[in-house]
Amino acid sequence: MKTAVFSARRYDQTLLTRANADGRHQLLFLQDRLSPETAMLAAGCDAVSVFVNDDVGAGVLAQLGRQGTRFVTTRSTGFNHIDAQAASSLGIAVARVADYSPHSVAEFAAGLLLAVNRKIARASVRTREGNFELDGLMGFDLHGKTVGVIGTGKIGAIFARIMAGFGCTVLGSDVHRNPEFEALGGRYVDAAELFAASDVVSLHCPLTEDTRYIVNAQSLAAAKHGCILVNTSRGGLVDTEAAIAALKSGRLRGLAIDVYEQEASLFFQDLSSTVITDDVIQRLVSFPNVIVTGHQAFFTEEAIGQIMDTTIRNLNDFEDGLDLGERSVAS
Ligand code: NAI
Repeated sequence: MKTAVFSARRYDQTLLTRANADGRHQLLFLQDRLSPETAMLAAGCDAVSVFVNDDVGAGVLAQLGRQGTRFVTTRSTGFNHIDAQAASSLGIAVARVADYSPHSVAEFAAGLLLAVNRKIARASVRTREGNFELDGLMGFDLHGKTVGVIGTGKIGAIFARIMAGFGCTVLGSDVHRNPEFEALGGRYVDAAELFAASDVVSLHCPLTEDTRYIVNAQSLAAAKHGCILVNTSRGGLVDTEAAIAALKSGRLRGLAIDVYEQEASLFFQDLSSTVITDDVIQRLVSFPNVIVTGHQAFFTEEAIGQIMDTTIRNLNDFEDGLDLGERSVAS
């Protein structure tokens, strides 16, 4: 199928081309994000491949539909950037990568937690400048602490297992119970108890209408004083202004985020020579106890390989009229 691949970075081109080694699909790589302005670039393409910050809202989908697109496949697990209902009413099928190395994200979340708690990034910057002072670098032992996991699915359960390995008590909050989480000693509580009891809260639920701003001024006011918040899931789970207020008051001892609610205009590009006009992210990165990374938790060889292979499989299966099962995004 002729497929427009939006937000294509060098690694997307290399690995998607490799996964499409038999040349079955004609891939048109586009560095641009999909948006109302760039949708016309997919004219005549049967399929479109997108990534997390592409605009796959109703307007863009309508335009794609008019241009002949019948299938949208996202190179991600999350699909909150796609208006699945609009796609369905336009007769455009939508698919995702249901399953790829959940270890990539869980391990990165653990890394972010260690980095912010033990101030590893700060220490590295200091030693490069010849400063071997320890003042300001004190953290706390994770051993014996309580870690709250919101969303105990594939990634959350692995993160919980890693934390249990550190000797932490693990609490979980989820709308479904995962026996794997309970088997490793995790205990389910409601979100309020989780915030009140946890020294660390890590977010691993999808972004939905129910979870938007699940971390807000109210939940932070009820959180344990001095807790660390880690978000590797989706930016919209956290009210960033409320998190900044909690950092200022000391309610949050640290914040480590791989995702940010306004990331679409920032992430996956080099803006080092431009003036960044987003004052909120600029404020965040100015805090000594905040770590921001640019949506890289999934970025391991294993995960990327699986994402590309599944994307080509989605194109194959759609073209062959097969049932995509849990890879299908139904509205
Ligand atoms: P999953 O579907 O296996 O687990 C999600 C869990 O969240 C489920 O157990 C679900 O019941 C739970 N959940 C749903 N609504 C909830 C609510 N209101 N409160 C608490 N829990 C709720 O998904 P998986 O694979 O573990 O991924 C989780 C999220 O991680 C994805 O939705 C995505 O947003 C994010 N992600 C981030 C990446 C990154 O590079 N930073 C890469 C991959 C995923």
